[in-house]
Amino acid sequence: MSILTVENLAKSYSGFQAVKGVTFSLQAGEMLALIGPNGAGKSTCFNMINGQVAPSAGRIRIFGRDVTGMAPRDVWRLGVGRTFQIAATFGSMTVAENVQAALLSYRRRWADCRWAARFYRQEAHDLLALVGMADQSTRSCGELAYGDVKRLELAIALANDPKLLLMDEPAAGMAPSERAALMALVTRVARERRIGVLFTEHDMDAVFGHADRVLVLNRGDLIAEGPPAAVRGNAEVQAVYLGAGTLFGASHR
Ligand SMILES: Nc1ncnc2c1ncn2[C@@H]1O[C@H](COP(=O)(O)OP(=O)(O)OP(=O)(O)O)[C@@H](O)[C@H]1O
Ligand SMILES: [Mg+2]
Repeated sequence: MSILTVENLAKSYSGFQAVKGVTFSLQAGEMLALIGPNGAGKSTCFNMINGQVAPSAGRIRIFGRDVTGMAPRDVWRLGVGRTFQIAATFGSMTVAENVQAALLSYRRRWADCRWAARFYRQEAHDLLALVGMADQSTRSCGELAYGDVKRLELAIALANDPKLLLMDEPAAGMAPSERAALMALVTRVARERRIGVLFTEHDMDAVFGHADRVLVLNRGDLIAEGPPAAVRGNAEVQAVYLGAGTLFGASHR
């Protein structure tokens, strides 16, 4: 069964069509990449699925339920994890407290960050161990290297025991070796926990090395969909990427 179904999803900003009617679905345990050049509409799709941006048209179903227009907090409580293109954590709190606050929000249905340190120490430790950050749990989040912030974000995204994970450039800003390790971790966790992962990355090694299926957006239109090898060989996809980089090399940024 599809855990995420998007039908004719569209978003306009003052007449500018950022996303023009996109349809796709995602299965449990599947790694689905949504790629495209800068401004293609990828983050807008993530933001609509997550509830941060209201669609202009179309429907979104998660776990069989129509969530179109639902608030982000309610989408999170359904069991949808999210990481952001620009990592978002509480810089003044410790690494562990960031995860504890997320656990508190999900399990107790409220989150006063002042009390976060009192709850779920073991669970937070386990999540941090999963992403390789257990030894950094007492560090202030504001002093972390960016790659560590991205890993912490993954631990936070897993705090609601998600069955759907939305990852907008999970490894952006990471060194190549860190990026490969993070993508391998996400893939392993997705397989083990049967999590469907929708992710985007500009790094093509991350995309073609880990996706089961690839969707290509260009200027708001879905122009290709299929297994990585077929998409990489698609003439229209190659044309879109010409001048912006190569589908076989490093990031096109
Ligand atoms: N709030 C907004 N108001 C007006 N235009 C917007 C808004 N958000 C996004 N856009 C426009 O919509 C288009 C798609 O933006 P989006 O951020 O979804 O692209 P993207 O594929 O994520 O790009 P990138 O790879 O650079 O992250 C862009 O032209 C962007 O300028
Ligand atoms: Mg984006």
